[in-house]
Amino acid sequence: MLREPDVLAQLMRRKPAHSLPQDLYCDPGVFQVDLEKIWYRDWLFSIPACEIPKVGDYVVHEVGAYSVVIVRGTDGAIRAFHNSCRHRGSVLCKTKKGTNPKLVCPYHQWTYELDGRLLWARDMGPDFDPAKHGLKPVHCRNVRGMVYICLAEHAPDLSGLEAQATRYMSPHDLENSKVAFESTIIEEGNWKLVWENNRECYHCSGNHPSLCRTFPEDPRLISKDEQGEMSELQARHAERCAAAGAATAFVEADQGDWRFVRTPLLGGGESYTMDGKVAVSLPNSSLPFKDAGSLLKYKYPGTWNHFLSDHAIVFRVTPISAMQTEVCTKWLVHKDAVEGRDYDLNRLTEVWIATNDEDREVVENNQRGILSPAYEPGPYSPTQEAGNMQFVDWYARTLIRAITGPAAVAAE
Ligand code: FES
Ligand SMILES: [Fe+2]
Repeated sequence: MLREPDVLAQLMRRKPAHSLPQDLYCDPGVFQVDLEKIWYRDWLFSIPACEIPKVGDYVVHEVGAYSVVIVRGTDGAIRAFHNSCRHRGSVLCKTKKGTNPKLVCPYHQWTYELDGRLLWARDMGPDFDPAKHGLKPVHCRNVRGMVYICLAEHAPDLSGLEAQATRYMSPHDLENSKVAFESTIIEEGNWKLVWENNRECYHCSGNHPSLCRTFPEDPRLISKDEQGEMSELQARHAERCAAAGAATAFVEADQGDWRFVRTPLLGGGESYTMDGKVAVSLPNSSLPFKDAGSLLKYKYPGTWNHFLSDHAIVFRVTPISAMQTEVCTKWLVHKDAVEGRDYDLNRLTEVWIATNDEDREVVENNQRGILSPAYEPGPYSPTQEAGNMQFVDWYARTLIRAITGPAAVAAE
């Protein structure tokens, strides 16, 4: 089991533009370092805000050793707290989701307000101060209808993402949406393999027959090419969307941890359906045309999203162990859309249910192959896998900085 200095050494001598050394994909010590230096420090997408529309609605989100309750307060604000009672530490919310007027500990019934204040604790004596025993807060932000949490004591700056989310996501009304369907799968692969698979479409033609009906494999439709240019089709699409007030052009974070770009779908496709037509007749966007393509967004390490003219799909990645990753997918439609009238659930979900399963299989094959003693890091395609290089560079940079401090990265 590797420790921090070993991880650092492996990162420092990794081969540029190649997949990572074996240990970084399978070692439990590396997994622990990933948790502590990345997952416990960065902003993580938790839930769409529309999943807890009413006062007292809550969802429990587990990340590594942490359990967090995300709850809607009486003032309508969404807050996050550690799911651990300030009496003797019992979990407060035992179920994954629910609704409660107060947060009541199941052990001795200490009772907390939805804003975390301790309201009631029986027989604790005259010196007991309830004000000192409120629930421990977790940083929590609602970014255009997507709730992010951060487990660190001091959360990193999120203002860049927030500013661009306002520009890019404003046509997509996630607050007035609802979760039409959710699926949770466990992939037997390291979380970085899940991301690497997400960051390229080199594998799409050989693995995704239904997604390939609408999703463009051409990387120049999604990001810039090696010369920093976008394709003509992408440029035309950007112009048309911009005229309709929808920001479209590729933008990414200086640190490389998030990106927005609105890409056209193939052949004037409208949505991720088998026939390419919209899946929902009551859209949750204000885009004036159906073939607005897909607004692609990611925020490492926890989420990638697709925002279409008729619905949105949000994916949440959660590392479970060195070689297990949970991928939770939620399909968001307008809150007034009625199943059977405005959309057919199978039609809405079939492409990405199949695609997720196909991705699970390739990720698991990738993990199994990497476990061979014969594995050695292989070269990424410069045209097809620039996204992988961007991801592993972000990973290495972030981890090196977290282990050694910013000076070492600057000197790299
Ligand atoms: S542990 Fe929660 S009330 Fe005792
Ligand atoms: Fe895929």
